Amino acid sequence: MIASRAQCNKPLATKSCLRVPSSGSPVRRLSFRSLSSSRSDARGRCAQIRSASNAIDTAPSADIDWDALGFGLQHVASTMYVATCPAGSDAWTGSLQPYGPMSLYPSSQVLNYGQSVFEGMKAQRTASGGIVLFRPDCNAARMQDGAARLSMACPSTSAFISAVEDVVRANANMVPPQGKGSLYLRPLLMGTGPILGLGPAPEYTFCVYCAAVGSYFKGGQLTPIDLKVDTQFHRSAPRGMGGTKAAGNYSPVLVQQLAAKKEGYSDVLYLDAAHDRYLEEVSSCNIFIKRGNVISTPPISGSILPGVTRRSVVELARSKGYEVREEQVSIEMAMEADEVFTTGTAVVLSPVGSLTYEGTTRKFGEQGVPTETALELYEALTGLQQERIPDEFGWVHRVC
Ligand code: COI
Repeated sequence: MIASRAQCNKPLATKSCLRVPSSGSPVRRLSFRSLSSSRSDARGRCAQIRSASNAIDTAPSADIDWDALGFGLQHVASTMYVATCPAGSDAWTGSLQPYGPMSLYPSSQVLNYGQSVFEGMKAQRTASGGIVLFRPDCNAARMQDGAARLSMACPSTSAFISAVEDVVRANANMVPPQGKGSLYLRPLLMGTGPILGLGPAPEYTFCVYCAAVGSYFKGGQLTPIDLKVDTQFHRSAPRGMGGTKAAGNYSPVLVQQLAAKKEGYSDVLYLDAAHDRYLEEVSSCNIFIKRGNVISTPPISGSILPGVTRRSVVELARSKGYEVREEQVSIEMAMEADEVFTTGTAVVLSPVGSLTYEGTTRKFGEQGVPTETALELYEALTGLQQERIPDEFGWVHRVC
């Protein structure tokens, strides 16, 4: 099912790869011409892989200790997808390949000027033994918005989803048993062609690799995390590019994240650049607070990431009777909240155990125990993602 861009929480992009012209019909800007153009093509390619490797085993591999998964590349999958396309053309050429190093000129645009956007997605094993993705159309749309912001070529939604599906099928035995973790997928789009003067790359590379992962934070999935509110740097600026999933938005947070981790915090929460007062996001995820029956989260204003999990949790919480407000949340509101939690693909939904701001620490709930609403929404989200509860939203996308 392909959701509309409104359903995918379209951020404030200046341009879109899926533009609607005055005639009203959407124009697909780029598509993979030679591969990944349709589901039957994808099935055909899967059949080829099957015959090449004497049938894909979709059962979880017996060689992995599924109870000891962390978030890393310890169990990176052996097959990735790589496609390239000249700028200004829709002639994407791609294939499944062994996971391994890629060759780049030192003059590649991405290495010099940083044309790079990425996505985070998860394939999960369901209660009935199938393998599913969660709202992959939203990830495709977000990559297209980011690509437009950074003047990059970008695969169409169907090409994006088809490539991701192929990677999941090819690595199906790396999808952990239900409830033990997921196959984390990393679609990556880069300007790989060479260029010296500042300008967009003459060629683009889209690749998807993946790894079996468990909990993002070290303490385990539902162990509350401790956040330090950063008062030195901002993550992004109004009318900047904080709302894109650009690689360049992630390294600037490392200096504060590493320092905070040394002090025993799990991660850093950023405030807005204009007022130094309103919550933006954590280095790796979006943020929510709860007071009484009201759940608030910062609005999609262009400076925070339009998270797919964020959007889903907003809708799930509303369906459960909470009043959900997408509004400016001051640090004072957060310090006085009943609960705070974070959301993201990698993070899923993590309760916050404490917030530290200008030397004052506010604790939430009992030490080491997830707070009530965070737990309720985590169960609802993961229940839906793993088909333990019926998907009334149409978000779950079956792969095999
Ligand atoms: C994700 O949540 O999937 C992300 O891409 C965030 C990243 C920092 C792990």
